[in-house]
Amino acid sequence: MLLKTIFRVFLANTFAILLLASGGSTPAYAGSVGNPTATPVSSNASAEDPWWKHAVIYEIYPRSFQDSNGDGIGDLNGITARLDYLQGLGVNAIWLTPIYPSPQVDFGYDISNYEAIDPTYGTMADFDRLVAEAKKRNIRVIMDMVMNHTSDQNPWFVESRSSRDNPKRNWYVWRDGKGPGQPPNNWESGFGHSAWAYDAKTQQWYYHHFYPQQPDLNWNNPAVEKAMFNAVRFWLNRGVAGFRLDAITTLFEDPQLRDEKVLPGKNAFGDPNESGALQSILPPMHTVLRALRKVTDSYPGQRVLIGETYMSAQDLPTMYGKNDDELQLPMDLRVGFINKLDVAKFRKRISEAENDMHGNQPLFVFDNHDQIRSWNRYGDGIHDAAIARIVATMLLTTRSTALMYYGEELGMVTTPPKTRAEVQDPIGKIGWPKEKGRDGERTPMQWTPGKDAGFSTAAKTWLPVAPDYKLVNVQVESAQPDSLYFWYKKLIAMRHNNPALYGGDNIMLNTSDPNVLSYLRKNPEAGPSVLVAMNFTAQPRKISFDLKAQGITGTHARTLLQNGGVAEHVSLHHVKLPPFAVFIGEVQ
Ligand code: GLC
Ligand code: CA
Repeated sequence: MLLKTIFRVFLANTFAILLLASGGSTPAYAGSVGNPTATPVSSNASAEDPWWKHAVIYEIYPRSFQDSNGDGIGDLNGITARLDYLQGLGVNAIWLTPIYPSPQVDFGYDISNYEAIDPTYGTMADFDRLVAEAKKRNIRVIMDMVMNHTSDQNPWFVESRSSRDNPKRNWYVWRDGKGPGQPPNNWESGFGHSAWAYDAKTQQWYYHHFYPQQPDLNWNNPAVEKAMFNAVRFWLNRGVAGFRLDAITTLFEDPQLRDEKVLPGKNAFGDPNESGALQSILPPMHTVLRALRKVTDSYPGQRVLIGETYMSAQDLPTMYGKNDDELQLPMDLRVGFINKLDVAKFRKRISEAENDMHGNQPLFVFDNHDQIRSWNRYGDGIHDAAIARIVATMLLTTRSTALMYYGEELGMVTTPPKTRAEVQDPIGKIGWPKEKGRDGERTPMQWTPGKDAGFSTAAKTWLPVAPDYKLVNVQVESAQPDSLYFWYKKLIAMRHNNPALYGGDNIMLNTSDPNVLSYLRKNPEAGPSVLVAMNFTAQPRKISFDLKAQGITGTHARTLLQNGGVAEHVSLHHVKLPPFAVFIGEVQ
């Protein structure tokens, strides 16, 4: 069973039901990117490894990262100005959410021209400079590619809607209604209400999985693939390292347009819950992905395809393709959106990412521009700072490639709009007050305790700066050795430099303990393995490890990094973990 995905609401119930139903695993940035100098060798790592296998990828929401020209909106020159910061943090690649010309109804996910830059963000020259400056710092640039839909202002759609016999009519999904005022079927948009919009001029309906201003392309038409792949080549030729494929599971719909199954209850938009199975994950998607992978593979430099794949443990492995010929990194959103510090769930899903992906590389994510920030989702209001360190540890010490979101390293929180009038994200207007939209996790990056948090010099920024910016910002946290910022920075450096964390197997430990999540990153060489243990409770815990079964005779561990007051050198038979403590130690 599959349920319709609607972002924030979807988090709370839909995805949970989906998972239930499906039965549902050298010097850091400087040396190892692209041209590894001292790549540790292991069963999970080799000198030939593609760069993305060990990467930390940092998602930037360009509107909110750094404004360089004082209009209150972030831009490309702003990002370029902050590359030193990103290099210092240790990230290997940045993913930019869409920067193409767009009416900005969905803040760039409604593209009106796939081969240009929106003037709000800068020029093509600014873009080329960003890519070149990033390259100097061994940082790759990944673009967001929106293939499912365009803006209704895209000339393709303007033509398509102009008449029934326009040559581009069949580029989009047009159908007759069931009767006057009645859409072709009961399908709902992920952003609320019917997925069909009526066009009075040509008296037909067009399908939109998202906003009505985002008509779905018709992927059964080869001309669509051709146009989209041309856009892909355009950016590959400019040196981008790959793409994050937006809403990739929604490319195809049931050709017979059968009604979705209606389920009990209503969603946050007040519409009946529906299965959604006929509107996503349809098999022809795989044919497109294989063709796309051929395009990216025809370029040198290991270009990568990342997928926005909210999927079950059963469906996710199919996204890699049968012969590693589709996506290299479909996102595993099952681990990062458990939304509760539940040891059993994390153990199960991390194991699934290890064991059920046919040896492919997982990509874990805890924060993004669509979901409430992890600080709020996992925090208990008392131990939030410690819990944020647990989240960072899970992201950066498992074998998975890591995808983080700007400000996650500072502990930025979600700050939802207080009134409907303030809302920028249309789903917040459609769903108010239950669904407040995604503005809250898109607030400006917090750089300094100064004006506009150092994000801008404007009198008014496009979204307000979060109220905690005086304490939570780069400047303040870089002066505090025990800040969350340094926690991320240290973890990233360790992940790149420690052979066990870089390429060791990931073995779950003490698999019946309901309080402590622990795993071993087994060193593939003679050197020490690394033990990671995290207390998920507010009570102190004592735990004993016996690693003989893992072929390890060491009985002690030396701290590499800890939070919460764990001893520096511990006996593996009595590891004492204070409330919400993290212990990362080298086994000796
Ligand atoms: C993706 C994006 C989201 C956007 C939607 C429609 O899920 O992450 O922000 O609104 O697709 O393009
Ligand atoms: Ca600007």
